[in-house]
Amino acid sequence: MIPRLGVNIDHVATLRQARGEVYPSVVDAAQVSLLNGADQITIHLREDRRHIQDTDVEAVRLVTKRFGKPLNLEMGVNSEIVEIAIASTPDWICLVPEKRQEKTTEGGLDLLENQNFKKVEEAVKKLKSSLKDVKISLFLEANIETLLKAKELEIDAVEIHTGEYAKVFANGDEISKFLSQFSKAKDFLSSHKISCHAGHGLTNESVIPLLESKIFEEYNIGHWIICHALFNGLGSTVKNLKTTFESQPIK
Ligand code: PXP
Repeated sequence: MIPRLGVNIDHVATLRQARGEVYPSVVDAAQVSLLNGADQITIHLREDRRHIQDTDVEAVRLVTKRFGKPLNLEMGVNSEIVEIAIASTPDWICLVPEKRQEKTTEGGLDLLENQNFKKVEEAVKKLKSSLKDVKISLFLEANIETLLKAKELEIDAVEIHTGEYAKVFANGDEISKFLSQFSKAKDFLSSHKISCHAGHGLTNESVIPLLESKIFEEYNIGHWIICHALFNGLGSTVKNLKTTFESQPIK
């Protein structure tokens, strides 16, 4: 099995929103990514709408449907966004923590805090009861205490936060501690029939040790792809990354 590559196209919308223009087009970005081997398109509809807009969700949904590939909608557990998610029928929903002041998602959901846990639990129930085929993942740290709480919920996957790992990798420091945490998390999730995904901060280089470890079945990568595409084109960036994935089958 080849690990799946989810291409996050949020930052195509970041460029567009920076000037209030209609270009660059997220529809074109989704299309080019899928034509070049992306297994899914990921977008994050943030409460402050800093990049993806409500109309983008519908437009990108049409593209993923046309290609018969999944749309993965990342979102906070906010009731307005939950309603939009229900209306847009994504294949996957990844619940993430969201703070307005942050530049990007800064870590996994805190399921150890009771109020937070209840909010996530409520959102999962509402989404699962309103969308019969939706699959839900939670964006979490690779921490067994947190994963123990996650397994109480009706979820299909956990997306492990790889942001810290990616920073340590970029500094050339030792990554074995992360690989061991990720591997323990994967074993725990597998024993509860929950899939194990990865995302945040990854590049074509930092993803290699993860692909070699065979821990994750799906990766969601955005910022690096869009930045690299500035100089190399989106199509060839996605195509080359997909070739790397194909050289590292899981089984
Ligand atoms: N996965 C999740 C849950 C995220 O919040 C993000 C950022 O939107 C990503 C993956 C992609 O991260 P990056 O843009 O750093 O590759």
